[in-house]
Amino acid sequence: MTKSYPIVSEEYKKAVENAKRKLRGLINEKNCAPIMLRIAWHSAGTYDVKSKTGGPFGTMKHPAELAHGANSGLDIAVRLLEPIKAQFPIISYADFYQLAGVVAVEVTGGPEIPFHPGREDKPEPPPEGRLPDATKGSDHLRDVFGAQMGLSDKDIVALSGGHTLGRCHKERSGFEGPWTSNPVVFDNSYFKELLSGDKEGLLQLPTDKALLSDPVFRPLVEKYAADEDAFFADYAEAHLKLSELGFAEA
Ligand code: HEM
Repeated sequence: MTKSYPIVSEEYKKAVENAKRKLRGLINEKNCAPIMLRIAWHSAGTYDVKSKTGGPFGTMKHPAELAHGANSGLDIAVRLLEPIKAQFPIISYADFYQLAGVVAVEVTGGPEIPFHPGREDKPEPPPEGRLPDATKGSDHLRDVFGAQMGLSDKDIVALSGGHTLGRCHKERSGFEGPWTSNPVVFDNSYFKELLSGDKEGLLQLPTDKALLSDPVFRPLVEKYAADEDAFFADYAEAHLKLSELGFAEA
């Protein structure tokens, strides 16, 4: 779909550039790239193409959305971001949370993801239950990413590579451990580890493993494990789509 981006003022553009610099500093200081990527993804991933509700529109700061089971721990991200957000009142929360996700990928060595400003904050959080359930398989991934969000099979596999960053925390999700041995570096190691099977100290969720047993997903896992440039190109495209679900539709 062709996008028709809103025009924002020079003042707004300048604020976005400055906020980007502040976010780089925060992420370095607090080593919090993983949770910044997760808040951006959980903000956007609630989009429903049919009802055109949910999506990256700044609602994650509402206690009602933070209380969704899938968002456990994201209050930390909201809290970390608040002092920077306060310096840029002109920027919407919608833009700000997506900017945090883009910067998190960039500063950890991942691809540059284009950022278009102009999302407006929505007043109401989406209903609970739109984010994926880690205990399920490929049908569920296609229900959530495909039927609900409107993304492709290729997007599912590329975006799953976001698990190159960070870890599971028992007290948040019930799972424990990182996917890779370098969880603050954005690279293609998630796919290499996935193909090499279970390893002491590392974790693979059922939804990660589902990528191996599906005839469309598996060849993409193999491609990304062998070719980091191919992963980065597809990841950047998929992340851009994710960050703009329901935004700037012509
Ligand atoms: C495919 C479906 C997905 C499922 C079922 C899933 C599930 C999970 C779970 C259970 C956690 C652990 C949360 C915790 O205990 O702290 C997690 C963490 C994380 N997820 Fe996903 N996820 C999915 C897709 C994605 C996508 C598309 C991205 C980004 C592009 C992403 C990025 C992350 C990151 C960066 C973390 C680490 C957060 C941290 O270290 O604090 N995930 N995910």
